[in-house]
Amino acid sequence: MNFRDTLYVNENGKLIIGGVQASVLAKQFGTPLYVLDKKHVENMCDVFIKTLSKEYPKSLVCYASKAFSCKEIYRIINSKKLGIDVVSNGELYTAKSVDFPMNKAIFHGNNKTANELITAVTNGVKYVVLDSYYEVDLLEEICVERGIKQNVLIRVNPGIEAHTHHYIQTAKQDSKFGFSISNGDALEFIKYVLTKKNVNIEGLHCHIGSQIFEEKSYVICVEKMTDFYKLLKQELSLTLPTINLGGGFGIWYNDEDKKTTLEDYANFVKIIAKTLKENVKAKGLTQPFLILEPGRSIIGEAGITLYTVGATKTIKDLKNYIAIDGGMFDNPRFALYQAKYTVALCDKANLEPVKKYTVAGKCCESGDVIAEDCMLPEVNSGDILAVFSTGAYNYSMASNYNRNLVPPVVMVEKGKAKYIVKPQSLDDLIRNDV
Ligand code: LLP
Repeated sequence: MNFRDTLYVNENGKLIIGGVQASVLAKQFGTPLYVLDKKHVENMCDVFIKTLSKEYPKSLVCYASKAFSCKEIYRIINSKKLGIDVVSNGELYTAKSVDFPMNKAIFHGNNKTANELITAVTNGVKYVVLDSYYEVDLLEEICVERGIKQNVLIRVNPGIEAHTHHYIQTAKQDSKFGFSISNGDALEFIKYVLTKKNVNIEGLHCHIGSQIFEEKSYVICVEKMTDFYKLLKQELSLTLPTINLGGGFGIWYNDEDKKTTLEDYANFVKIIAKTLKENVKAKGLTQPFLILEPGRSIIGEAGITLYTVGATKTIKDLKNYIAIDGGMFDNPRFALYQAKYTVALCDKANLEPVKKYTVAGKCCESGDVIAEDCMLPEVNSGDILAVFSTGAYNYSMASNYNRNLVPPVVMVEKGKAKYIVKPQSLDDLIRNDV
């Protein structure tokens, strides 16, 4: 476990989050239930923003809201003075609905629709991040029609293979994202964008992947990116004022992962800032404005999911299954990435583990598993099970598969709990059916 002062097991073996007993939350709000620890989200925002503004004042931290998006999270992010990264009209609309300042929003995506580009431009987002020839032609047209000049970043691919699942590696050589620096594609694309009158290149963006623990990956990334800034200066006399290095900082899911602390994230930021300053100096560049885009690290460990155990099934000499009232519709990450999670029984968290269990979801699909081979105390039907580190890419990737309801989200702080996303109803499911 990666416990902290707002997530721990008390002397009676009860799991406590945000000052509330997890099993009490399950009783009060029902299961499955997403629970978010507000203090931890705020601490994570603080560690990124405070460290970066100290180490590299010309900077902005943008929360990658694909990790978890709803009104309340945008309010918290805004109160902490971070910007946001959005990737769809839906994320932008949600942020705007709580008056998130659009001049601190960055619009990403490898295939933004015309409608999304219009929304981005007319709402005055800080940058549109360009990722194709198709897109820049479209954006130019949209801007000319409206007499707007839009600042953009160019998504480049520095070609780094970070150690993570290949679906969440985004900057290896073969990727649908970005223009490769090494084969000259990025340079060609930049030359093309420079011919556009209503599109202004402010800088480059890259994102080398997700769930990364190695600082070295970021050091190499900064080296490759600044080499390219130097080349642009030499070849095109182009000095770009901004650099966006994306997110990707890893979190603890199970004991194969590092038990990350706030200091670890401060360390990532310090290394990136230091490497950038050194490279800028050594290569004779103008110090750019720096943007980082953490998503998972801000929200991931703040979240847990609570389930009630229903059926239990032992296959003789093979496996003990326990089935929960959620599954791949609220957490598809095992099915998609073979992600490994840690689980615990909320009211028996201090008992000795005695048996190996596989936690199965309730969807009609054999691959609907949440965790495999977990050592737990004897599990009985009715027990409340917690899955840790589910704050990122769970609620945001949830679906109504099998017409199950997406669970509500409760935020906890100082012993109090409130809905930040209310429960779906069966009527919500058929609302748009004709
Ligand atoms: N910036 C860009 C442009 C990105 O594409 C991403 C994530 C981030 C920032 C934030 O990365 P983070 O700090 O959260 O690692 N669904 C997958 C993760 C996909 C990440 C996609 N891009 C998962 O569940 O692991």
